Amino acid sequence: MKRASKLMGTVALGLLTAVSAQAEDVEVLHWWTSGGEAAALNVLKEDLQGQDIGWNDMPVAGGGGEAAMTTLRARVTAGNPPTAVQMLGFDIQDWAAEGALGNLNDVAAAEGWDAVVPAALQAFAKYDGNWISAPVNVHSTNWVWANKAVLDELGLGVPSTWEEFVAAMQAAKDAGKVGLAHGGQAWQEATMFDGVVLSAGGPDFYKKAFIDLDPEALGSDTMVEAFKRMETLRSYVDDNFSGRDWNLASAMVINGEAAFQIMGDWAKGEFLNAGKVPDQDFLCFRVPGSEGVVTFNSDQFAMFNVSEEGAKAAQAAMAASIMAPSFQSAFNVVKGSVPARTDVPQDDFDACGKKGMDQLAEAAANGTLLGSMAHGHANRAGVKNAIYDVVTAHFNGEFSAEEAAEELVNAVETAM
Ligand code: BGC
Repeated sequence: MKRASKLMGTVALGLLTAVSAQAEDVEVLHWWTSGGEAAALNVLKEDLQGQDIGWNDMPVAGGGGEAAMTTLRARVTAGNPPTAVQMLGFDIQDWAAEGALGNLNDVAAAEGWDAVVPAALQAFAKYDGNWISAPVNVHSTNWVWANKAVLDELGLGVPSTWEEFVAAMQAAKDAGKVGLAHGGQAWQEATMFDGVVLSAGGPDFYKKAFIDLDPEALGSDTMVEAFKRMETLRSYVDDNFSGRDWNLASAMVINGEAAFQIMGDWAKGEFLNAGKVPDQDFLCFRVPGSEGVVTFNSDQFAMFNVSEEGAKAAQAAMAASIMAPSFQSAFNVVKGSVPARTDVPQDDFDACGKKGMDQLAEAAANGTLLGSMAHGHANRAGVKNAIYDVVTAHFNGEFSAEEAAEELVNAVETAM
């Protein structure tokens, strides 16, 4: 049943669906518009096309998905939700609380999701005990990406402390390179802040500040130190950073113009898409001082309430495809993320992917797997946006580090 048939009257529609609940095309709203992201998206499109499920693409550019979420709100308000929507953490829970999402329990039970999806992901993929979204991956934000040839030329290895990292950026700057590739957009500054807060305060501090929203932690000397570290990073960014997209910042590391980028592991998708090989052309390591901790975010496809049987069949087929172990491997190898289930073999993953899978398992076992503030897994959108505003204003010189910590306490309190 194709889109045009939606115009048919209910009687005709009833007859059609009575004959067979043939899966419709899926309309998918997402923000995967960079080269690496599009390559990963193709893995999903082709998988569904192999099952005769057509794909209506609804891309809304903008890392972190803020613009996509604004478009989604408009579509739902107009009574016309897409079939499936890329979504992060607390946004999924908020839409479920509004009663807007469908129920994936049948497919989840048939495919045994309960046993293989990590608890940290189930916390977002289930609402009131019901499966409401299909997790496609686990990304993590506290990564640094480095150009290996640039480091070799400067005689530098992987920095193991914050001080060594700063010295490495300085050495790159002294050699005429950009120390830190960065795109001046609030979500990118917030992404760096995930790793920087960890490096300044460790996992317990991160949890108190971003997950528990403890005002003492938010306004503490440790938070002031985190903001000072952001000022240090700011001093290694080039003059044209304002508004630059994250993938263009990745390109600066790929082409050797810059030494480092602090970014989630979707950046790896850009390196791979450019034909680069981990350990040979580029290096991946945790933000120095944040080793042993993983700040995660999981892209999930939330399925909206739809009434037509064909659309429901398409949602179930898409959810089942996404969760198949072979798909989880094929997709995440390209995307830069790691699988959203614990039983996927590492064989096809590169060195960074294997590292990411091991570190995810270790962090989950050690209690150091923490939701990313920047990518909607620590708190609801209102609080997240309040933190974004302070972090980006400070990065752009509006506040001192001390003022920023104070502003953070006030902004979070107002948003709660
Ligand atoms: C998503 C990634 C995406 C990145 C940049 C993150 O919020 O989880 O899948 O690649 O934004 O667009």
